[in-house]
Amino acid sequence: MPQEIKKLIDGNNEWVESVKKTDPHFFDDLEKGQTPDFLWIGCSDSRVPATQLTNTMPGSIFVHRNIANLVVHTDINLLSVVYYAVKALKVKHIIVCGHYGCGGVQAAMGNDSFDIIDNWVRNIKDVYNTHKAELGAISSESDRFNRLVELNVEEQVNNLSKISFIQEEWKGGNKLQIHGWVYKLNDGKIKDLNVSVDNPENLDAVYKFN
Ligand code: CO
Repeated sequence: MPQEIKKLIDGNNEWVESVKKTDPHFFDDLEKGQTPDFLWIGCSDSRVPATQLTNTMPGSIFVHRNIANLVVHTDINLLSVVYYAVKALKVKHIIVCGHYGCGGVQAAMGNDSFDIIDNWVRNIKDVYNTHKAELGAISSESDRFNRLVELNVEEQVNNLSKISFIQEEWKGGNKLQIHGWVYKLNDGKIKDLNVSVDNPENLDAVYKFN
């Protein structure tokens, strides 16, 4: 077995022992099922693991991750995760968590091609284009990069609000909240962008379903 793989298996064994020491029934309880309150839509970046940075245990957060935490309305993978989280698990909160220094967002700001990834990153270029007046007025490239990370999260919160079955939940009285956060790699802290929504009121009329 390669050393780096053995390290993972050894790490797993150590983790199991430490969890059992704190809570001997932890695994028996979790085996019965999951009732997470949160769906996390985050970046695939290895530095932004949902449960670790929120100091929560397995069973707390249902997770979907992709490059640059995007909510793309034709992505059947994302839609299936959101549908299951909302309709079956009945999560109370959906959190879109981006992070400063996101490679996907950086790629979208530039003109280099990354082959098939260009088609994914294109979604972030569209976010840039939507907000080009604001972004174009920022002279510092790093400030512009940081702002695009934030705007990208905001747009993904909007994209979730545009999903018909989410609007259906809201209409049915579900108080489901969608939040936008950005994680800071340099100090490990989460910044709440204060863009939380629990209704479709702020959406343009064309996106609202009867
Ligand atoms: Co990223």
